Formats: sequence, C-alpha cells, structure tokens
Amino acid sequence: MRLNSPQINIITKACRKASRSIIRDFGEIENLQVSSKGPGDFVTSADKRTEKIIIEELQKAYPDYGIITEESGEINQSNKTNRWIIDPIDGTTNFLNGIPQFAISIGYEEENEIKCGVIFDPIKNEMFFAEKGNGAFLNNSRIRVSNKKKLKDALLVTGGPRQSSKIKDQIFSEFINLSNNVMSPIRKFGSAALDIAYVACGRFDGYWQRELNYWDVAAGIVILKEAGGFIDFFDHDKDMPLKRNILATNSNIHEELHDLIIKKNIE
Ligand code: IPD
Ligand code: CA
Ligand code: CA
Repeated sequence: MRLNSPQINIITKACRKASRSIIRDFGEIENLQVSSKGPGDFVTSADKRTEKIIIEELQKAYPDYGIITEESGEINQSNKTNRWIIDPIDGTTNFLNGIPQFAISIGYEEENEIKCGVIFDPIKNEMFFAEKGNGAFLNNSRIRVSNKKKLKDALLVTGGPRQSSKIKDQIFSEFINLSNNVMSPIRKFGSAALDIAYVACGRFDGYWQRELNYWDVAAGIVILKEAGGFIDFFDHDKDMPLKRNILATNSNIHEELHDLIIKKNIE
C-alpha cells in the first residue's frame, strides 16, 4: 500500500472491523431464509450493527468530523469541512437473498471534495481504495479502467429503478436505448458501490444510474478518477442535495455514453 493520509488508514481499519460482523451476519441469512419469519428485520439490524461499528471506529480518531450515513442520517452537522460519507452495506437486497455481491463504502470529504475512499467486499475479500493523487488499488495491486474504445463493444452496468420512482418510464427507455447501442446485454448487479469499483478496475467499461444517494457513490468517485476513469453527475436537483444521477466510464467511451443519455434528454 503506497498511501499516506491518516484518514485512509482509519477507513480501512474500520472496514476490516465491521466486515467481521457482516460475515457473521451473512452466515445467518441462509438459516433465516428458510425460517417462517424471513431475514427482513435481521437485515435491517445487520445494517445498523455494521454502521455502529464503523462510526465508533471513525469517531475514535476524529470525534468532531461530520458524518453522513444511510442509517443514522447526519451527525455533527455543523462540520461541513471534514465529513465521512458512509454506506454500511451497499447491496442490501443481495445480502438479504444470500447473494455475495455487497460492500461497505466509506468516503472522506474535505471542503466538499472526496479525498479518499474505500469500497470493501468482505466476502470476496476485495478492498478497492484510492486517495487523491496517489492512484487506485485493489488489495495490493494498482488498478486502471479498461481500454475498450467503442461503446458498442462495451460491457455496461446499471441499476434501478426503484418501485417508488416517479421516472420509471424514462429509466426504462434509457435502458432500451442503450441496450440497442451495445453488443453485450447490460448487467444489473445490485450494488452501486461495486458497480463503480468494477469500472475502476476494468471489469465493466461503463456504469450509469439515476436516483442514487451520495453515500452509494462517494467512495467510488475518487477510486474511479484515480483509476483514470471519468465521472459525471447530471440533472442535479438542488432541492435534493444528497441525490445523484451518475455516469462513470473508462476514458474512451465517456463521450458516446454521455451523448446517448444526457444530450438525448436535452433534445
Ligand atoms: C442500493 C444499491 C443498488 C442501487 C440502489 C441503492 P442499498 O443501495 O446500491 O445497486 O440500485 O439504488 O439504493 O439500499 O443496497 O444500500
Ligand atoms: Ca446503497
Ligand atoms: Ca445501504
């Protein structure tokens, strides 16, 4: 590991600690799936348990930092200069169904810019991390985005829409439009954080999704950029500061994908 900020060391430590509890809880899911009660409540408490461990670890080091988390909302709201952005389990539906595709995602933001981030898949023991200016890594290896040149050859991933979305038709028609422009069927893996991490290490060539939350993507921003990828947030709604529509790609297909999603909506 060739990174040096104290923040990234603290995040990786918090991830390792929280992952022990997630792995234990994931082991319980199989038993709960066959029980009459089902794993629903248990999963909610697994999310909260994980978040508590992470917050405790981060606060031990920096008690006055602001925190934005999925389960507990905002903590130390007055500190907007230094903030942790946390999703304790990204990919809850996968977790709930015993599918090993979920991750802890923690970003560190300074003056409104993500400075370092970690996305940790505890089941596959894959830690994606990056710090601004120091490259992106998967465990001990440097990662880079793919070199795929043309959108038609690209393997894309997306997610959503949620059942409650008010723009489902738009999201479905974007999916159809993009599907008609690529050879391989578009994937939906169910964890936004891992989707971005997979673009960063070249497994996917591009990812887009509407109606995400900041904690889904915060860590991914710096990981993707440091891996040489491009990221755009589009159609931002000022009244919903934590919502994000994202386009994340390797450096070659960005324009083509951007034109298909963003320009198309303007026309
Ligand atoms: C969800 C996942 C999923 C995305 C949803 C997110 P959660 O996060 O990232 O891939 O499609 O929009 O809410 O609820 O599992 O933390
Ligand atoms: Ca999430
Ligand atoms: Ca979550």
